[in-house]
Amino acid sequence: MKLVIEGGRPLRGEVAVQGAKNSALHLLAAALLTDEPIVLQRVPELSDVRAQLALLEALGKRVERLSAEGYRLRASPAGLRPLAPPEPARRLRASFHVLGPLLARCGEAAVPLPGGDAIGPRPVDLHLRGLEALGAHIEVDKGRGVVYARARAGALRPARIELPYPSVGATIHLMITAAGLPGPGRTVIENAAREPEIDDVARLLRAMGARVERTGSRLEIWGQDSTELRGAEHQVMPDRICAGTYAIAVAIAGGSAIIRCVPWHLGALVDTLQAMGVVVRERPDGRGLEVARGRGAPLRAIAIETRPYPGFPTDLHPPIAALLALADGESRLRETVFEDRFAYVEGLRRLGAQIEVDAPRRTAIVRGVRALEGADVRVRRDNRAGAALVLAGLAARGTTIVHDDEGLIPRGYSRLVEDLRALGANIEPAEDG
Ligand code: EPZ
Repeated sequence: MKLVIEGGRPLRGEVAVQGAKNSALHLLAAALLTDEPIVLQRVPELSDVRAQLALLEALGKRVERLSAEGYRLRASPAGLRPLAPPEPARRLRASFHVLGPLLARCGEAAVPLPGGDAIGPRPVDLHLRGLEALGAHIEVDKGRGVVYARARAGALRPARIELPYPSVGATIHLMITAAGLPGPGRTVIENAAREPEIDDVARLLRAMGARVERTGSRLEIWGQDSTELRGAEHQVMPDRICAGTYAIAVAIAGGSAIIRCVPWHLGALVDTLQAMGVVVRERPDGRGLEVARGRGAPLRAIAIETRPYPGFPTDLHPPIAALLALADGESRLRETVFEDRFAYVEGLRRLGAQIEVDAPRRTAIVRGVRALEGADVRVRRDNRAGAALVLAGLAARGTTIVHDDEGLIPRGYSRLVEDLRALGANIEPAEDG
């Protein structure tokens, strides 16, 4: 797939964002904890979501599509089969999170080691240590790339887990698992991640009857009394990374737009954009964020460091780099979460950006230029790098063609082209050829 963009058009209007990918994928894993119906609304139409749904069906869940973004998940007569097949599991990282709930329900499970964006080795050691603390016996068959697990004493038990790093995935995976365990007692996860998607999953778990409490970086999840977790309905939270991407799009293209989202989920980005001279304000009517920048208005260079929430999100590293390419002076963008988030650099350079990467320091040094020039660019490895190239194309002079041969952009964004066009961008999908 490729996208053809004629740069130079300001963005105007109002846009709602998709349901959060990095909540929806984990809500689907949580549905394994009950045989009763789970209804999820505002599930984004993404290839990763389709893969996770296919995995749940392979595990024995019946999936009914209620609407474009609504699904009902039920048990099938055959019940759960705790063996996750390599396809589709290898396609995405979040597939690994079915291991814990399968262990909680069936006492044993086999799940392939995860796939996902190629932005670093992305080990799962924190997940496995946490499951062992809950009483799992883990064997990793590196040859076949499969993790075999079983509950030592027939069932996992609540325990205290101290995460050495606030891993989002490990926090969510262990929280979901702990919610499916028999009591008495409670699981405590210390140094838990604080990303809003975690609290969206906790809301579903509570609706299912679990007791989950957060105090800062500590999560407490009580073991269940006799009853199983029940069915529930849940609406996925708005996707803050998609909202942030759109906010940066308005900043880079110029114009003024309202982005319907949860403003406090984007505090670090709002602070960054304001420091660069972009007008960003929370709408008093609760409709989200209003972003505005006059055409050609100066952008101040800045130093950014990605951090776990509430710090600047790593998933907005590539998109903000496109904006830094047009700032006055030298900006520094340091990546502290993943080993390699620089897949966008080659494409931005082809568009005229002046970027050097100090790999040992995981830092991009970006010297702003007066203007970017349209060119043919390729999306590599990271769906957020694809978004960065699209955003740069909005500002570049002339035509930019973004080649997304691996279909990485639709892994993270369900309506990027439609939403940007609705805001006035001149962007068209085109068949390869
Ligand atoms: C989740 O990935 C998101 N994915 C990522 O979004 C997001 O960038 C990331 O959280 C950080 O916010 C989903 O939710 C599906 P981590 P995850 O565990 O869970 C290391 C996107 O584009 N680590 O917080 O993999 C790991 O290698 C994607 O939407 C271990 O060492 O993030 C990384 O360096 C990209 N051992 C760091 O921690 C472990 O067991 C952060 O990983 C787990 C993680």
